[in-house]
Amino acid sequence: MKAVRFSRFGPAHDVAELVDVDEPGAPGPGEVLLEIERSSINPADLLQFEGRYGAVPPKLPVWAGGEAVGRVLEAGAGVTHLKAGDRVLALLAARGNWRPRTKAPAARLFALPEADVDQLAMLGVNPPTAWLMLHDFVALAPGDWVIQNAGNSGVGQAVIQFSKRLGWKTVSVVRREEQVAPLKALGADVVLVDGPDLAARVHAATGGAKPRLGIDAVAGDATRRLGRAMADGGTVVNYGMLSGDACALDPGDVVFRDVALRGFWLARWFATVPLEQQHALYRQLGTAIAEGALRVEVEQVYPLAQVKDALAHAARPGRGGKVLIAPNA
Ligand SMILES: NC(=O)c1ccc[n+]([C@@H]2O[C@H](COP(=O)([O-])OP(=O)(O)OC[C@H]3O[C@@H](n4cnc5c(N)ncnc54)[C@H](OP(=O)(O)O)[C@@H]3O)[C@@H](O)[C@H]2O)c1
Repeated sequence: MKAVRFSRFGPAHDVAELVDVDEPGAPGPGEVLLEIERSSINPADLLQFEGRYGAVPPKLPVWAGGEAVGRVLEAGAGVTHLKAGDRVLALLAARGNWRPRTKAPAARLFALPEADVDQLAMLGVNPPTAWLMLHDFVALAPGDWVIQNAGNSGVGQAVIQFSKRLGWKTVSVVRREEQVAPLKALGADVVLVDGPDLAARVHAATGGAKPRLGIDAVAGDATRRLGRAMADGGTVVNYGMLSGDACALDPGDVVFRDVALRGFWLARWFATVPLEQQHALYRQLGTAIAEGALRVEVEQVYPLAQVKDALAHAARPGRGGKVLIAPNA
């Protein structure tokens, strides 16, 4: 079978290699053999290929693919909570998931509810990121406003849908006018195209209300524009570096209005929160997908053989949704 890896850093579609690897074989005690059904290509994957993800670049070569959903083909000795046919989030147990089959430690996995496989392929990273940023930084009350940029991203779509259910209002900032209508249809209260006068347009649209929580995927001057729109004492949570620039805030907003900047990284949550708590959140979010309460647009699903095309597509601006890989298609 084939698997994807990279042996040098560079643009993902350039450096990705599809190489022959051995079949994983039968699962050992405490392991499961998984068939990977779908995997989502995230901006973090693209950054990893470029050696720009995390505090230190990984040691080469790297087997690619984190977020993925798969079915258990066989459970090894001593595995009692999973059986053949169960669907699991492969991300929780192993990386290097852009391959048809893999073995994984069963203890980190749990059975997902049955739901659309494409939607489950996007459960592992963006929905918990959206949920935790909405809950862990500012205690919001019904009717409070949240502002976010990259509003049409996978995280942004989850922020809109969760906020709607929780009774919080959203301002979603995008960089393309054609994203306004789809995000409003998804439940966004206000959608604005980014620009220098963003704060004034936010306050005009909210009737003067100012967001206490800002969610920033872009960094650079985009952080500054969110900061300008925030309530006094508000918090901007940066979780992405889409612009490639350092986060900026005006000293006037920091000093005179106490606007604060915090950071969020899901990997830190994985490292610091007990596994049962992680599974509890994933069960809740998986149920939301199964019930149709959380849905994120998909633009295209590629077979593994076309991984380079898939990576080039995922890196393109102006997509209509996520790009997925189907390693067994
Ligand atoms: N910290 C964490 O733990 C964590 C977890 C999950 C995701 N993230 C980060 O969250 C961000 C969104 O991820 P995702 O998977 O939700 O994204 P996605 O669905 O793949 O969509 C990418 C989004 O980024 C926008 N974008 C790209 N470059 C931009 C730029 N220079 N300025 C403004 N917008 C830009 C795109 O806008 P167009 O549609 O206009 O091209 C699109 O809305 C990424 O930065 C990712 O690394 C972080």
